[in-house]
Amino acid sequence: MEHDKPIGIFDSGVGGLSVVKNIIKVLPNENFIYIADSKHFPYGTKSAGEVRNFALRIIKYLLAQNVKAVIVACNTASSVAIDEIKKSASPIPVFGMIQAGAQYAAKTTKNHKICVISTPLTQKQHTYLNEIKKINPSTEVFEVGSQEMINLVENGIEHNEFAVNLTKENLKEPIEKGVDTIVLGSTHLPFLYRTVKSVAGESISVIDPSDFLIIQVKEFLDNNDLLNRKHPSERLFFTTGNREEFKEKMKVFLEGTYIPERLDI
Ligand code: DGL
Repeated sequence: MEHDKPIGIFDSGVGGLSVVKNIIKVLPNENFIYIADSKHFPYGTKSAGEVRNFALRIIKYLLAQNVKAVIVACNTASSVAIDEIKKSASPIPVFGMIQAGAQYAAKTTKNHKICVISTPLTQKQHTYLNEIKKINPSTEVFEVGSQEMINLVENGIEHNEFAVNLTKENLKEPIEKGVDTIVLGSTHLPFLYRTVKSVAGESISVIDPSDFLIIQVKEFLDNNDLLNRKHPSERLFFTTGNREEFKEKMKVFLEGTYIPERLDI
């Protein structure tokens, strides 16, 4: 049955687990396969071509597992490879982070000054800036590329003094410029929400693109009669890196006991 087929989800590491958390909350019946390409982490400091190749290899694997949809739970892969991924997955629908994040930011901002925190590669591609400007060309977009913040999360850290100081440094200029919205433009960053919010303060909205994306995914599945109405769901996790390490990281970021498998692709 189409409804029972899993959703394929991938990221370079633990970041996509922030998207998984939303799926479990909003689409609790869905079966899914999550792949963490830990062997190639970080994507954010690699070339666009390298990340594209990693992403296409994972897509090939997911398609062979008969997925009914794909979520590219990685802003960096979305920013460099979404068109190629969509082409190679067609007719299977593919959802990326950037458009959803840009739409969410454009809806949230009141003064049209937005900051996007991402990997250096996403920043270099200006994908968020371009998508936000497509919606409203007069919006000012401040792009912060910080691999260091993302690496903290990959190493299991959600909040500490070092993270706060690093975030302060990175957000100093955009905050001085008066942004009213900060986009967590890497799927690792929602795990630093508390840290970012403590620096941004009450008056600045800190938003997670996947909150918006999952609503779009749900609508799509519903409109196409693809929602799985049966419970419980099967949730499979794979890592291309060290299985024990990934298991420990999953314990930090995801409630419940899941045992990841090692995947050689
Ligand atoms: N989680 C990925 C993203 O959303 C990036 C992490 C990395 O540098 O590999 O961009």
